[in-house]
Amino acid sequence: MSKKWQITVPGSTANLGPGFDSIGLSLSLYLQLTVSLHDEWEIVHLSEGLPKEFDVNEHLIYKIANETAKRFNKVMPSCRVEMASEIPFARGLGSSASAIVAGIELANILCDLHLTVQDKCNLSSQFEGHPDNATASVLGGLTISTMDKEGIVDTIHINDLEASFVLFVPNTELKTSEARDILPEHFSRPYSVQASAHANMLAASLVLKDYERIGRYMESDLFHEPFRAKLIPYYEEIHKEAKKAGAYGTALSGAGPTMISIIPPSIGQKFVARMEELFPSHKIILTKPDHRGVYVEEITNVSSN
Ligand code: HSE
Repeated sequence: MSKKWQITVPGSTANLGPGFDSIGLSLSLYLQLTVSLHDEWEIVHLSEGLPKEFDVNEHLIYKIANETAKRFNKVMPSCRVEMASEIPFARGLGSSASAIVAGIELANILCDLHLTVQDKCNLSSQFEGHPDNATASVLGGLTISTMDKEGIVDTIHINDLEASFVLFVPNTELKTSEARDILPEHFSRPYSVQASAHANMLAASLVLKDYERIGRYMESDLFHEPFRAKLIPYYEEIHKEAKKAGAYGTALSGAGPTMISIIPPSIGQKFVARMEELFPSHKIILTKPDHRGVYVEEITNVSSN
């Protein structure tokens, strides 16, 4: 009798405009690992979009699982990992955060770490460097978070947004490091006051589920979008056409290059059809918030030894 585990982790969007490095939202696009103990490490990529060639020792899941085990003075046993993903790679949809959360869960299962949800939020945010995508992938739903200097995360978790989210995924990758390097090191006091006021209004609107205002403040970012816009294909056009077709608002998804619109669920299919017509070079994906976060199932295979 051999045991297998299935680890499912949602992808996510981050920032929603001015919630820079703080606000995350999990999306109904998933990374799934099927894991079994094995005499040596093996990672198999099953999906088209995942890199074809890689070194197992450099694989993010391998590195995070080993590092997590090490932090708890355990040794990670070798395993075979089959990896399937619906999350577009390097497009600002939390593919690395979901791999980090999966790697932590892998160590949690195979080293019996008994990690709490708080441990998982702390570890994943520390590995990622900020808590937006990481907490959303751990918890599901919407997360508004901060991480202190010791790497302890505090999160407000909202799990009942009634909106759909449409992704505009271009056919180009953008490295988060490149999109971060472009940002200014400092802002003046009046500029920061305005930027943080917009972020406060976005967070309050999300808590109140005031969708018109959420859309308006998603479009008001001053922390990063004004500097990243030039890296993003059709940045202005997508904003304009999405609004015309009924979106509450549109923002960059994480560091981009994907853009994301928040829309009323009732217009989903029609909105997507119109955007497909207008932006044929983009993949247009209709998503909703995931409500479960990271999830593990144990599969017992009775037929094998
Ligand atoms: N908050 C991050 C950023 C998300 O915008 O750079 C990408 O990791």
